[in-house]
Amino acid sequence: MSFNPLKEKGLSIDKQLRTWHDIAHRKFNKNEVNCYSRTRQILMNGIEVEAWNFKHNFARNTMHTDTQEFLAQTKRIEDAQQTTINWLAPCDQSVLETTLGYEQVAVDLTAWLAQNEPDEYVKETYDFGLLEDFDHLYRYSQWAYMVHGIDPDNILQGQTDVMLGRPTQHHHNCNILRLRKPYDKNTASPQTKVNIMTLVAGEQQTHNYYGEHGFEYGNECLRETYAEIKDVEEEHVTMYESLIDPTESFYEKLLLHEFTEVCTYQNCMKDEEDEKIKDIWEEFLVFELGHLQKAAELFKKYEKRDPEEVIGDRVFDPCHFTSQKDYVSDILINQIDKRLGTNKDYTTIKKLPDDWASYEIQEKVGEDGAPSEVTIHVIAEQKHRDIIKASDMLKSNVPKLAKKGLQTKGLAPESVTIEEYEQMAKETFEM
Ligand SMILES: [Fe+2]
Ligand SMILES: [Fe+2]
Ligand SMILES: [Fe+2]
Ligand SMILES: [Fe+2]
Repeated sequence: MSFNPLKEKGLSIDKQLRTWHDIAHRKFNKNEVNCYSRTRQILMNGIEVEAWNFKHNFARNTMHTDTQEFLAQTKRIEDAQQTTINWLAPCDQSVLETTLGYEQVAVDLTAWLAQNEPDEYVKETYDFGLLEDFDHLYRYSQWAYMVHGIDPDNILQGQTDVMLGRPTQHHHNCNILRLRKPYDKNTASPQTKVNIMTLVAGEQQTHNYYGEHGFEYGNECLRETYAEIKDVEEEHVTMYESLIDPTESFYEKLLLHEFTEVCTYQNCMKDEEDEKIKDIWEEFLVFELGHLQKAAELFKKYEKRDPEEVIGDRVFDPCHFTSQKDYVSDILINQIDKRLGTNKDYTTIKKLPDDWASYEIQEKVGEDGAPSEVTIHVIAEQKHRDIIKASDMLKSNVPKLAKKGLQTKGLAPESVTIEEYEQMAKETFEM
């Protein structure tokens, strides 16, 4: 389904107010919901948080009365949309269960975007980030079992693998190295712009969620793991947002935000099988078409340009969720040793200079051990091994992958060794 969103009328903004009941009453059953309905719910919450945040920023930077009024009205609408979507999560879904959902979003969304990205350099950045969120999922899965006694597949439903990725302790980079080359707003495809905005919103909300909820557990090692991974999500926001051309004007950005909301809602609506949730995507798509229409008017008035120059004349699918095991396993096997280069490029562990700026960061933050490594020691102490959910081919490759993915410099004390991975591979995990 593709259409020109600028040709659709949508619902006028003054008709978008809803009752408290309508805003807050819906929730899904955590045991019955499809895992990809949950990933859509998590992502669209992030999209709304970003839309709301951006509008507040814009409002603090404009003197135009009609723009201020449009922002004032729609900030409230975006905020109510956020409530409806985020509160679909039921109160009995634990923080760690939700966390597995967040990392499933990151893995399967990033893999989808990498395969649907016209810009090669942007695609490479997605492949790079992918292996980091993949490793987060592995670490959190151990905790979900240790704290709540759950199988990670209760949440992932067998659609996403759980195993060692690029080890989390090596995600801690010098944030200057995280900065990427931005696209050129005049030549980049609208799809590239929408893809990046979608992922930035997802990563930012993941960061916020860990910041707001990681402390809800008393276990010190788990708290530290949340703190450690939250910091990586902060790096991810820095990395992905730096792909955006910083010379885009506020009006151009407004247009892109509303367009991204239109694209993501139409994609969710098209894929959703849960009728109750589908109704929400459908309703909010019509809201967003109303926002986009007004944003396009403001863009024409103040920039004196055709909105189609920025967003083109059709919608994209920036968030189609489907199992990405084959794609992820290929990237895992071939790119686990990839690292950030010094010229906004990529390199491998073997080619890193001795004075690589991230070594200093890793040595400092991991001075007394990396919680993400201790996580594996803790579960191995209880169960003689870690939880892995992957094909036999991938499982048998764990020691080899650990050897390829672990650095010798910048390695935290008491990291899990290759020998320990070999030993764990001989054991079976009894749930
Ligand atoms: Fe919205
Ligand atoms: Fe992550
Ligand atoms: Fe991330
Ligand atoms: Fe909107």
